[in-house]
Amino acid sequence: MDCITTGNHVWDQREIIPYIARDEKLLRPINFPPGTPGNGLYKHRLSDGRTITIINAMGRLFMDPLDDPFRIMRETLESERIGQTTDAIFVDFHAETTSEKMSMAHHLEGKITALVGTHTHIPTADAHIMGGGTAYQTDVGMTGDYNSVIGVETEIGVHRFVKKMPGERLRPASGDGTLCGCLIVVDEAGKARSIDPIRLGGILPESLPTN
Ligand SMILES: [Fe+2]
Repeated sequence: MDCITTGNHVWDQREIIPYIARDEKLLRPINFPPGTPGNGLYKHRLSDGRTITIINAMGRLFMDPLDDPFRIMRETLESERIGQTTDAIFVDFHAETTSEKMSMAHHLEGKITALVGTHTHIPTADAHIMGGGTAYQTDVGMTGDYNSVIGVETEIGVHRFVKKMPGERLRPASGDGTLCGCLIVVDEAGKARSIDPIRLGGILPESLPTN
């Protein structure tokens, strides 16, 4: 395992609280208040010595608001620079709204290699390279069963909207899963050359990298 990013569910299993401080490859969003256990940034070293910096941040619209992710990303990128302190920078922005994710990408464009969104579980059709050589996709989707309500068993998911009363505990749907992700090709200068969405298996149309 090279690195795992998380989001708003990071503390759901409390055992992670003492653990996360010891495992630098397991990230929690960088914009939790100062003093929160764990880290929001990890520098992964490749076998040839080059490094890729991975940053996990979380949005604030329709989510539990954390510290301002725009300010914290700006401050972080003052000391983390492609070509000086690292060879590439990848950002997982875990956020609900498309507008907050696009705004963050434009805010950081040119200073980072890639920003991909997570959290909605629904892959978006907008993977592209922005002007500054930053790869972008609003949401890469989930790995799970899409015959569901964002991965939750359909009946339980629908019940929450129809009944407005607590129903059964949420259970993951257990049909055929789709693996979602993206492949980003990066050049020597830390600029993204291409981004290809990946969808494999389950009920979504398949998408595989073209090169
Ligand atoms: Fe989430």
